[in-house]
Amino acid sequence: MSKILVTGGTGFIGSHTVVELHNAGYEVVIIDNLSNSNPRILDQIESIIGLKPEFAELDLCDEAKVNAFAESHQDISGVIHFAAYKAVGESVQQPLKYYRNNFYSLINLINAFGSKLNLVFSSSCTVYGQPDVLPVTEEAPTKKAESPYGNTKQIAEEILQETCAVVPDLKVISLRYFNPVGAHASALIGELPIGVPQNLVPFITQSAIGKRGAITVFGNDYNTPDGSAVRDYIHVVDLAKAHVAAVRRLENGDAAQNYEVFNLGTGKGSTVLEVIHAFEQSTGEKLDYIIGPRRSGDVEKVWGDVTKSTQILGWKAELGLEEMMSSAWNWEKYLRDNPF
Ligand code: UD1
Repeated sequence: MSKILVTGGTGFIGSHTVVELHNAGYEVVIIDNLSNSNPRILDQIESIIGLKPEFAELDLCDEAKVNAFAESHQDISGVIHFAAYKAVGESVQQPLKYYRNNFYSLINLINAFGSKLNLVFSSSCTVYGQPDVLPVTEEAPTKKAESPYGNTKQIAEEILQETCAVVPDLKVISLRYFNPVGAHASALIGELPIGVPQNLVPFITQSAIGKRGAITVFGNDYNTPDGSAVRDYIHVVDLAKAHVAAVRRLENGDAAQNYEVFNLGTGKGSTVLEVIHAFEQSTGEKLDYIIGPRRSGDVEKVWGDVTKSTQILGWKAELGLEEMMSSAWNWEKYLRDNPF
């Protein structure tokens, strides 16, 4: 049984990936500094998979500690690196906090595990900005990042690509996520936003449960079917399964080059209003929403071409908006009844 290290394994995408790795027969070790997650997620994971993965509370910016961890875990055969700051607005206010954390942790990780490493990196469709051609393929040019957060994803990809060019035993897959939403079918794990959610779906579920007021739709004058912005929403469980496929590809030595990039989306765009209506339809709940101005930094429309991940990674998203909305809603209700 191969042992996979998941950094940020108590976070939203990390926790779902831990579950899918276990389901696929991998042993999982988690590193997390708990800066944006709750240690109770480990108990929740245990309730789903029947065992508690090994866990180290550790800050990846602490080089000595990362080195010591790697030294004592030489049987780790692959790393999935989620641990990073991800709040767009905060990154504009505190750019150095973002550059320091997101780069030091990545560099320390690579240095500690040496040149012979299989690494899956958590990237984002934010690297495309507003693409000129839709659906956007992996070959599309990257655009100047709208925020320091987005810039950390772009530069991290460059760091990895440039390092792979000179370290042949370093094997990396960068996964560019579109908009991850939803929660595990058990409703035992899901997204845990701190404070007022900035992302659409957690705002919707918190509004529906009465924790927030009306949803503001940021703009209805875009050049889209109903005027609201279009995104490619993807169920977090589908996303988690793609990480298993990426790990498997690296472990089997199937990678065509030692640095590869894949889009992870459904290939289908939905407007903000379509998401709101999908929530109402799949849950039977009524949402209050108002139309507000555009949010600065938002692109008009983006959705992914997923041909490469379908054909080469052998992975395809299976769950639609309905499952995304109903699972997110079940998780919100679970949180109401079992507050963290
Ligand atoms: C955001 C980040 C992106 C990051 C991703 C991670 C920005 C500008 N981009 O993507 O870099 O990779 O999260 O999940 O923050 N919306 C509303 N009302 C709301 C909240 C959102 O109308 O209260 C709209 C937004 O304008 C957007 C869509 O819903 O059109 C999705 O927004 P969000 O969930 O924040 O994701 P992105 O902005 O696409």
